[in-house]
Amino acid sequence: MMHIDFYQQQLTMERISVADLAKQYGTPLYAYSKNQILANWHRFQQYWPNPHRLCYAVKANSNLAILELLVAQGAGFDIVSGGELKRVLHAGGSAKSVVFSGVAKSTEELTYALEQGIGCINVESAAELERIQEVAKSLNVMAPVSLRVNPDVDAKTHPYIATGMKANKFGIAMDDAMPVFQRAHNLSHISLIGADCHIGSQIMSAGPFLDAAKRMFHLVDNLQQQGIELTHLDLGGGFGVTYEDVEPLDIQQYLTGLLDLAKEYPHITLLLEPGRAIVADAGLLITKVEYLKHSNDKSFALVDAGMNDMLRPSLYQAWHEIIAVSKDNNSTDKLVDVVGPVCETGCFLGHARHLNVAQGDLLAIKYAGAYGFTMSSNYNTRARPAEVLVDGNESFVIRERETFDDLIRGERLLQRD
Ligand code: LLP
Repeated sequence: MMHIDFYQQQLTMERISVADLAKQYGTPLYAYSKNQILANWHRFQQYWPNPHRLCYAVKANSNLAILELLVAQGAGFDIVSGGELKRVLHAGGSAKSVVFSGVAKSTEELTYALEQGIGCINVESAAELERIQEVAKSLNVMAPVSLRVNPDVDAKTHPYIATGMKANKFGIAMDDAMPVFQRAHNLSHISLIGADCHIGSQIMSAGPFLDAAKRMFHLVDNLQQQGIELTHLDLGGGFGVTYEDVEPLDIQQYLTGLLDLAKEYPHITLLLEPGRAIVADAGLLITKVEYLKHSNDKSFALVDAGMNDMLRPSLYQAWHEIIAVSKDNNSTDKLVDVVGPVCETGCFLGHARHLNVAQGDLLAIKYAGAYGFTMSSNYNTRARPAEVLVDGNESFVIRERETFDDLIRGERLLQRD
């Protein structure tokens, strides 16, 4: 069931019309459907029996209330910074349920993670392993680690978000992995528990995932022959969503395919790190048309949300569906570029869209729940939008709209007069 749909010509999130949300909270506004997030979570969970684990990738949407919601579902978490770990703890999660990814973890972050009792550190290089050993030794603890291996699989996605090929900065090349595993096995303050990979994001078919998984299971076999017994295999995230009208990724096919491969490895716990697939379709960015403008042979809808609020179109030429919030307006159909206020030609939300719009109308950018707010900035000294969570006929502010004072906090004038 979709929790964002038209009801009596009005775009509605759960039981509240999007126009009412805009009226109550102003625009631009991020709104998320609680029950869509839960439905997405359960879609994974139902094919993923214990002891296998799901670790939500916090970077997709790190709002505390959303993390809190997932803590209540028994989620684990995948983080990439000390800040994200603080968020998980603040939302009531435990460090034990967290895996820590990321290519350039600082000594401070590693210290903090080990002090908190992190579940696993996903090590990205031989040099990082040595640093973890040092930090763990100084704290007199054993550091639970997994080594991130680069399985050299082409995920067939945008080059900026493909991570599993030899040419990427991520992980340890499969060919170089054995001595690093040996080293980890022998270090005094390292507890080598697993291996992990993440081949990229927004992947639309099970094939590349299963290829990577086969290579990882092969690695488990090779390690076993060397006397190294792993108990945990983390296959990352990357499950694509249908921004455009394309065949969706079959989650059931992928997860059951994985469980099939895992049958011969009863001692291995599998982990997955879905981010986008849990939150993308649960979120809308609601924006108001400030002006319409026609110049030469082009028409523009100039809206109050910009690239600072939603970077994906500018950064990846990502396509997001943009729809009018009301179907019963009297506006005429136009071919417009939907562009934002930031002073960059690259500040757009969509090019060449057929929309029924007039000045003052509301538009919604769909699938904005993942990598929307988390990639926002204050460029052009723009305060970031509020975020609200809708649950049935109730809505809750889960992040207040920023104010100018928020933006200049920490700045200092050299002279006060
Ligand atoms: N695990 C690791 C190690 C990752 O690097 C990522 C995403 C995930 C899990 C979650 O991937 P997901 O299931 O969300 O695809 N900003 C880009 C996406 C960057 C993804 C980076 N890593 C976008 O807006 O498309």
